[in-house]
Amino acid sequence: MSEYVVELKNATKRFPGVVALKNMQLSVKPGEILGLIGENGAGKSTLIKVLTGVHQADEGQIFVDGVEQHFKDPNDSAAAGIACVYQELNIEKLLSITDNIFINKWIKKGTLLDYPTMHKKAKEV
Ligand SMILES: Nc1ncnc2c1ncn2[C@@H]1O[C@H](COP(=O)(O)OP(=O)(O)OP(=O)(O)O)[C@@H](O)[C@H]1O
Ligand SMILES: [Mg+2]
Repeated sequence: MSEYVVELKNATKRFPGVVALKNMQLSVKPGEILGLIGENGAGKSTLIKVLTGVHQADEGQIFVDGVEQHFKDPNDSAAAGIACVYQELNIEKLLSITDNIFINKWIKKGTLLDYPTMHKKAKEV
């Protein structure tokens, strides 16, 4: 068992014309609360997006409980226990509450969307 629940090692992320993260390290112990502080454009959001599979780092590794992970999207990271609660929620106004809650993680019955179950679960929350 690793001493850390989440580790980011040597993470580098480049966007066209800018190195957003350069060789970043982050280690989180179980139960630990960390603050990430930096000036505008320092790379805070990029770091969180790399950890939650929104972006993939060009270099570096992510470990959860000592096991290396490769997150291709936020559902992947959520399955491993890493999720982000964004400060500003983007609500899709033309979609129903159920659709907003289940966007990108729809419950299916066979190949069809299972709206009765999704509506029921949406009401619960
Ligand atoms: N999708 C993107 N495409 C191109 N460049 C990006 C993208 N996202 C971030 N950047 C650039 O990467 C750098 C780091 O940005 P990031 O948003 O991670 O910083 P931040 O620390 O979250 O800043 P802020 O405090 O303003 O939220 C900046 O130079 C930014 O312009
Ligand atoms: Mg930011």
